[in-house]
Amino acid sequence: MEQLWKSGAVYQIYPRSFCDSNGDGVGDIPGIISKLDYIASIGVKIVWLSPIYKSPKFDMGYDVADYYEIDPEYGTMEDFERLLAEAKKRGLRIVMDLVVNHTSSEHPWFRAALKGEMPYHDYYIFKKGKKEGVPPNNWTSMFTGTAWEYVPELGEYYLHLYDKAQPDLNWRNPKVLEEVENILRFYLDKGVYGFRCDVINQIYKESFEDGAGRNPSGRGQEHYLMTEGNHRILRTLYEDVFSKYEDHIVVGETFNVDIENGIRFLRDKELDMFFTFEHVALDKGLFGALPKKVNPAKLREVLYKYQKSIPWNANYWENHDQHRCIARFGSLKYRDASAKALGTLLLTLKGTPFIYQGQELGMLDAPMKDPETSTDCAAQAVLRLTKGFHLPKWLRYKICNGIDRDSCRAPMSWDNSINQGFTPGDKAWLLFAEDDGTHNVACEDKNPESVLNFYRKMLDLRAKHEELTHGNFDPLPSKGPLFAFRRVLGKASILVLINLSAKAIKLPVYLRNIEGKTLLSLGEDIPAGLPPFGVRAIDVG
Ligand code: NOJ
Ligand code: CA
Repeated sequence: MEQLWKSGAVYQIYPRSFCDSNGDGVGDIPGIISKLDYIASIGVKIVWLSPIYKSPKFDMGYDVADYYEIDPEYGTMEDFERLLAEAKKRGLRIVMDLVVNHTSSEHPWFRAALKGEMPYHDYYIFKKGKKEGVPPNNWTSMFTGTAWEYVPELGEYYLHLYDKAQPDLNWRNPKVLEEVENILRFYLDKGVYGFRCDVINQIYKESFEDGAGRNPSGRGQEHYLMTEGNHRILRTLYEDVFSKYEDHIVVGETFNVDIENGIRFLRDKELDMFFTFEHVALDKGLFGALPKKVNPAKLREVLYKYQKSIPWNANYWENHDQHRCIARFGSLKYRDASAKALGTLLLTLKGTPFIYQGQELGMLDAPMKDPETSTDCAAQAVLRLTKGFHLPKWLRYKICNGIDRDSCRAPMSWDNSINQGFTPGDKAWLLFAEDDGTHNVACEDKNPESVLNFYRKMLDLRAKHEELTHGNFDPLPSKGPLFAFRRVLGKASILVLINLSAKAIKLPVYLRNIEGKTLLSLGEDIPAGLPPFGVRAIDVG
C-alpha cells in the first residue's frame, strides 16, 4: 500500500490560534471542523495538530497533564472524534503531537512521584545532589537555567530539560515505554494517521556526567542526544506499534540531528522522516536570538546536503516555534513574490512538505511587543536570564523578541473584520499578525494572483506530476542565489529554477533557452535570467 505521506502534503494547525468557535478568544476543535473545507481546498492531505491534550498550558500544551483527555478549552473527546470523521469525509488524515520526553508537573504520575509513590517515582528521573545545595550535574535546560529542581520532601532533584513544569520521563523504565505504547494505540485505533514526535531524539539519557562547555541552554546534550538507547526505543515503538497499522506517519522532531543519525533513523525503521534545524539556524546571530542576514548560497548548501544524503526529508520553513519565513529567507519588499519562491522550493524539494497555518497566505509575524507581556515560557526564561546581564533595555528586549514564539502564533487571518474572522468574541488570546488587510483567506481566495492561489496551483501541479513527489533529486551546478535542480522519474524530468534574492540574476549559459513545456513561471520574463524571486518549472521530458 502506498503511504499517503509520499504524495500528500502536511498542513500544521496550531489549534489555539486557528479558529475560535465559541467566542472565548481561543481556537478550538469545533473551529477546526468548521474550516476543514478550506483546508481541503488548499490541496493538502494530512493535518498535524499541535497538542490538544489536557494541559495547564505552561508551554502551550507541550506539557501534558492527561494523554487520554482533550483539553476542555479545545473541546471534548467527542469533538475530536467528530473531527476525525469529518476530516476523513474530505480525504484528510489527522496527525497528533506526541510529547513524551516530559509530562506536565500536573500529570497525576508526577504528582504521585513527588510523594515518593511507586511505581510513579520511577517514571521520572530523580537523583541526589552532588552535595548539599548542588544539583546532580551541570546540565542546563533548553530554556536556560539549571535542568534540575530540588524537592525538599524527597531530598532529591528531578530532571527537566525544558521548564521545571515539564519533568523528564525516565525511558530506562520499561513501564514508561508500555504507557506510551498504550497511548499510541489508543489514538491510532481511533483512526489517527500518526504522530509528530516532540524532541524525540533526546528522550534516553545515556549518562548523567557533567556536560562540556558553558552553554546557558542545552548543556549536557552529548549525554542524551541520539543515544543508542534512543535508537533502540524508537525501533521498539515502530515495531511494536506503528508497523501494525498499514499506512501511518512517524515524524521526529530531532534537535541538532546530524546526517549519520538521520540516516539511521530511516534505515533502521525508527522514524519515517525527521525535522532538521540547520537551515532555520542560518539567520541566528548573537545570543542565538539576534537575526543575521541569510546567505542563499549557504542555505542551498545546507538544504542540498540533506536532499543528497537523506532518502526522505520532512521539509519546512515555518512552525509554531519559528518566526515566519518571508522576513527571514525572502523579502518584505517582495512579500508575495518571495512567499511564492519559498513555497516553490518547499513543494519541489524531495520529501514531505509541511505548511504551517497562514504560511499559505504569506502571513507575517505579529509586531514585536514588550516581552514582559509574552505568554511564551521560553521568552520569559530568557527575560529572567538576561536580567543579570547589565544590557541596555532595548538590547535585552531585542534578544527576548528573537526568542519569543508568541509572534508566529498570531491568530489565523480569515477575513477583514475586526477580529479577522478568528473569533466571534471581542478579543483574541494573542495579537494579530502585521498586515495591511490584504493577506487573509477571504481576500486571497478571490485574487487569482494571491499566495493562497499559488499554493493551490503548486499543490495541484505536485499531485499531477509524479516526478515532483517520487522523482530523484538531481542538483545542477549553480552559484549565488540560484537554486537549480531536476526531479527525475524514469525518463520524465522537471527542471526547477528559483532566484532566492531581491536582485535579478543572469542564468548560466547551460540553463538558457531550455526546451520543454513551462509548468510554472513566476515573475516577469527577462532575457536569459530570472527577476527578483523569479521561478520557472519546466517539463523537460
Ligand atoms: C518542541 C516544541 O515544538 C516546542 O514548542 C516545545 O516548547 C518544546 N519541544 C518542548 O516540548
Ligand atoms: Ca474557543
